[in-house]
Amino acid sequence: MKKNDFTEGQQRVLRQVEAFVKEQLAGAEGGHDWWHVARVRNTARTLAKLEAADAYVTELAALLHDVADAKFYGGDEEKGPQMAGAFLTSQQVAPEVREHVLNIIRHMSFKNSLEKLSFYSAEMAVVQDADRLDAMGAIGIARAFNYGGYKNRPLYDPAVKPRQQMTKEEYKSSEAPTINHFYEKLLLLKEKMNTAAGRAMAEQRHDFMVQFLEQFYKEWEGE
Ligand code: ADP
Ligand code: NI
Repeated sequence: MKKNDFTEGQQRVLRQVEAFVKEQLAGAEGGHDWWHVARVRNTARTLAKLEAADAYVTELAALLHDVADAKFYGGDEEKGPQMAGAFLTSQQVAPEVREHVLNIIRHMSFKNSLEKLSFYSAEMAVVQDADRLDAMGAIGIARAFNYGGYKNRPLYDPAVKPRQQMTKEEYKSSEAPTINHFYEKLLLLKEKMNTAAGRAMAEQRHDFMVQFLEQFYKEWEGE
């Protein structure tokens, strides 16, 4: 999507939102920083075109989806939607666009999807797929080990088995080695894609992670 597919007013709002998000994410952990948001926006744009989703809502939701990660706000999952909502109001964004964007960012996190999903739209589908795709493939691997390093977790411990079927609380409080995260989340994402275009991209990124794990275990055994 070229910038000039948006009206002047939309372009101005998008510039303001981009500046706001960059400011909020200054100093964020490397896997969840402005560049994560920029990648999600790029992927969401691609998917929005293929899935005929509204470009403006998609762009706003992609930009604002991680503005306040609950992990870093004492588990407060309303913090992000609150901050995003206040900013959109300050920019005089139409109430129906604002509500749509807030519904998307409230409902799209993986933690929420372990529980029931109560909102769906084409725009929500593409932004959620784009966010999940960024947790897969080469970038997904880099982000996982960056996060594990940030939390000072071991890379791998053969004695600590991955857990399936975690509750939301167990997922949040997990102290497991980073390799376990592949089995607890990353390898499960392929089956959760909403759109056909997202699923095709997910297949390729999934296969790359499987290949990475095979090589990792070989090297671990000194092969
Ligand atoms: P979401 O975008 O769904 O909120 P998270 O905030 O849970 O995702 O994760 C952000 C990034 O950190 C993702 O790439 C994710 O795979 C990674 N991550 C989250 N939890 C862990 C963990 N326990 N071990 C390794 N990486 C993790
Ligand atoms: Ni994200």
